[in-house]
Amino acid sequence: MEMQEQLRKIQEEALAQLAQIDDKAGLDALKLRLMGKKGELTLLRRSMGQIPAEDRPKAGQMINEVVAALTAQMDALDERLKAREQEKKLAREAIDVTEPRKHTPIGMQHPISLVQDQMLGVFTSMGFDVVEGPEVEYDLYNFELMNIPKNHPARDAQDTFYIEDNVVLRTHTSPVQARTMLTRKPPIRIVCPGRVYRADEVDATHSPVFHQMEGLVVGEDVTMADLKGTLDAFAQKLFGQDVTTRFRPSFFPFTEPSAEVDLTCVNCHGKGCRVCKGTGWIEVLGAGMVNPKVLEMCGIDSRKYSGFAFGVGLERIAMLRYGITDMRALFEGDVRFLSQFRDD
Ligand code: DAH
Repeated sequence: MEMQEQLRKIQEEALAQLAQIDDKAGLDALKLRLMGKKGELTLLRRSMGQIPAEDRPKAGQMINEVVAALTAQMDALDERLKAREQEKKLAREAIDVTEPRKHTPIGMQHPISLVQDQMLGVFTSMGFDVVEGPEVEYDLYNFELMNIPKNHPARDAQDTFYIEDNVVLRTHTSPVQARTMLTRKPPIRIVCPGRVYRADEVDATHSPVFHQMEGLVVGEDVTMADLKGTLDAFAQKLFGQDVTTRFRPSFFPFTEPSAEVDLTCVNCHGKGCRVCKGTGWIEVLGAGMVNPKVLEMCGIDSRKYSGFAFGVGLERIAMLRYGITDMRALFEGDVRFLSQFRDD
């Protein structure tokens, strides 16, 4: 019965230890100590040869029972430890779906880009191609082919940035007209957006760098009525159905006849207000029938073809469209200002 006593002690100690064990390593150590190659229970089983044969079945049964009982306990503890690990892992990986997301700032389009895109949309839907030209431009295209002869006041160095004697920063987008007529045959229907430069002081309505969009249509039987219809469609698409255009006689060297084009005041819809200085109209662009001299200089037969052209300042359009009163706001790059504008 010495073995029985030994068994009882092993079991008691094992149970006491089991109650203390708190991790897998502890459990493995206990398992090894009891049932490893040199484990207490293993050795006990091996020592059965020393007890009388008739006692062996009983002894074997007793060892088996203790092994079974302890194994069950150890397996249960193993399960609990595994469950606890799993819980910890889940807690570690838990995602709080109610947590506010990080603020990711998104960029906005600049109001100039917005109106430029809107205008390109209007004109391309009417069948215009979009063409670009260089900002550093030859005198030839910027002035000569636009029928602005030498000694014309527009060439004055006070207005024009000269790079060299015959190279300027383009003062308008009109030179793209000449570049296009010299390389394409009528029918021509183009718009040319881009930056232009003039030696102006910065104030609420002037900047040495600004943006224009040029329009040019050349074909057979192109008339001033086509010009008026095109500009009316543009005005209405951008500013609403109740807006129309008014043409006032004017002068540009590259058009004949020429017109200053007004829009129904977008602020008061024609009633008269501060924005339109009580007239109900606001001046927005220059236009006219392409001067036959310009057509001829650009290699187009002015007896067969006629054309119209227009030039719009994009800052002016953006300011009217978004109610901006100081042009400087468009160039300062203040994100608080710029983030207010959206396409609609
Ligand atoms: N180029 C002119 C300017 O910068 C604007 C302009 C007027 C363009 C009449 C045109 C036009 O095409 O026909 O002030």
